Amino acid sequence: MKNLTSQKLREMYLEFFADKGHKIIPSASLIPENDPTVLFTTAGMHPLVPYLLGEKHPEGNRLTDVQKCVRTGDIDEVGDSAHCTFFEMLGNWSLGDYFKEEMIPWSFEFLTSEKYLGIPVDDIAVTCFAGDADCPRDDESAGLWAKCGIKREHIFFLPKSGNWWGPAGTTGPCGPDTEMHIIRNHAEADKLGPYDFDKAPAGTFLEIWNDVFMQYNKTADGKYEPLKQRNVDTGMGLERTLCILGGKESVYETDVFEEAIKKIEELTGAKYSEGGETTRAFRVILDHVRTATFMLGDAKGIVPSNTDQGYILRRIIRRAVRFGRNVGLPQGSLKTVAGTMIEKYGDVYPELRINSQKIYDELEKEENKFSRTLQQGLREFEKVSAELAANGKTVIDGVTAFHLYDTYGFPVEITGEMAREKGLAVDVKGYEAAFAEHQAKSRAGSEQKFACGLADHKEETTRLHTATHLLHAALKKTLSPDVEQKGSNITEERLRFDFNFSRKLTPEEVAEVERLVNEQISANVPVVMKEMSLEEAKKEGFTGLFESKYGERVKTYTIGDFSKEICGGPHASSTGELGTFKIVKQENVSAGIKRIKAVLIND
Ligand code: ALA
Repeated sequence: MKNLTSQKLREMYLEFFADKGHKIIPSASLIPENDPTVLFTTAGMHPLVPYLLGEKHPEGNRLTDVQKCVRTGDIDEVGDSAHCTFFEMLGNWSLGDYFKEEMIPWSFEFLTSEKYLGIPVDDIAVTCFAGDADCPRDDESAGLWAKCGIKREHIFFLPKSGNWWGPAGTTGPCGPDTEMHIIRNHAEADKLGPYDFDKAPAGTFLEIWNDVFMQYNKTADGKYEPLKQRNVDTGMGLERTLCILGGKESVYETDVFEEAIKKIEELTGAKYSEGGETTRAFRVILDHVRTATFMLGDAKGIVPSNTDQGYILRRIIRRAVRFGRNVGLPQGSLKTVAGTMIEKYGDVYPELRINSQKIYDELEKEENKFSRTLQQGLREFEKVSAELAANGKTVIDGVTAFHLYDTYGFPVEITGEMAREKGLAVDVKGYEAAFAEHQAKSRAGSEQKFACGLADHKEETTRLHTATHLLHAALKKTLSPDVEQKGSNITEERLRFDFNFSRKLTPEEVAEVERLVNEQISANVPVVMKEMSLEEAKKEGFTGLFESKYGERVKTYTIGDFSKEICGGPHASSTGELGTFKIVKQENVSAGIKRIKAVLIND
């Protein structure tokens, strides 16, 4: 096995698949474009969902990348040796091209060849799908592994709970998978029958890679429909693999955290290797600062707030501050730690350098805000828990938990964690009720989520997507060329479009926007898609988020001389299919951001 650096592993993986005809594509944003069901990009396949469903990808049907991902289900677990909220996923995709017969031998080659990871064949175990009413047992994958040279006794079968992947949100592409593991304890592994994989004691196997054979689309009513095309989606966690290859105890001991650990040691005088609560605090700071850095530095960067992605960001920054206190991290240090992350990752993710000032400013602001109330809040918490103990109670009620959030800035999850440390619990339902009541009172809950996107690819949704482009152009023409899209969410019933504008539109402006859009619809203008480089698109005056790297090919959509946008599609083929466009509502999202809801009426 080779002990690699993070950069070497990224390069090795991408080169291996580039050699096999794959185009290397850049990591997409951490904020999903096309999936209103999740807050963050959770896997390499996530930004590719439209293409896994059958859209043509401008770079072809063999792709590979390193995707930045965030999974926040286990924030409170971060601090142990295994959990992280941010990770990079190495992946490769076949969009209706190759399938199992090619992918499994490639996986075998990459894992075992001396040129690549050089893992001894006898140290590899694989699991395949055991079969059920939705999909048969995957004997084909098992046979292919055996043909490569994996011992029959190292091939296991698991049901959907173990060998099925996806969808990334609640609906979308998914299928049976085959997972590759390193055997850490041969004596235990040898005791297992083909269906006993899950019975092995923890630590017997370490998962290293996952090949998903996507043949199904899970629909909103829970059915598995066959996909138009058979895809391959693979995912290898970068740090996890580095950790296994290097024989490290945890991902925090891989090179990605080296400089940050030194920096925290310098700032606190404590040592990462001390163990116990000190090591735990270091890990929380390392993981949370890295995640916050990537969230703030994203092209669609978010900032701390009380809702959706912004709330998760606030929660992790504040948790980092709290644990920082435990090891004597001076106030204002989070941005210093972030600096080491920007340095470490800036070549691979240039957006971190581009947005570094914003990262520093927002971290400083949020840290200061929380630090001001942290001491008092901790005192209040001590008082509350002492009172509970005096009365023989163990549950912090919802109103008190909300008070800790509203007055002292303690996210309820942090209160919950501190409560658990004292053997107490929080009435989370009661907290939510108190929060909802407060929202209703202050009307502070205006939705601030800018995760744009289409809820699905139904015909009605697609037509409304084309109408969204016409609306965008009409707003620019009617109000100001500075009007820009700030968010979009489309369902089959309506479009919702957020844009920067300081005031409500007058009835005359609304009428003019509708007139311009309907004029384009009556003229039945074709919607023309053209692929070009990002540079060309910029030059030709297409609007869009220029987040991608130089040289990337993008899709552009032109509607006559009315609208020109960079966009992933899908769209109606001409505007005549749209029906009559009508604005049904205007709303205020926040200062400077207005929202329009509109429909298409078909007679
Ligand atoms: N999408 C698959 C995963 O996340 C490869 O493991």
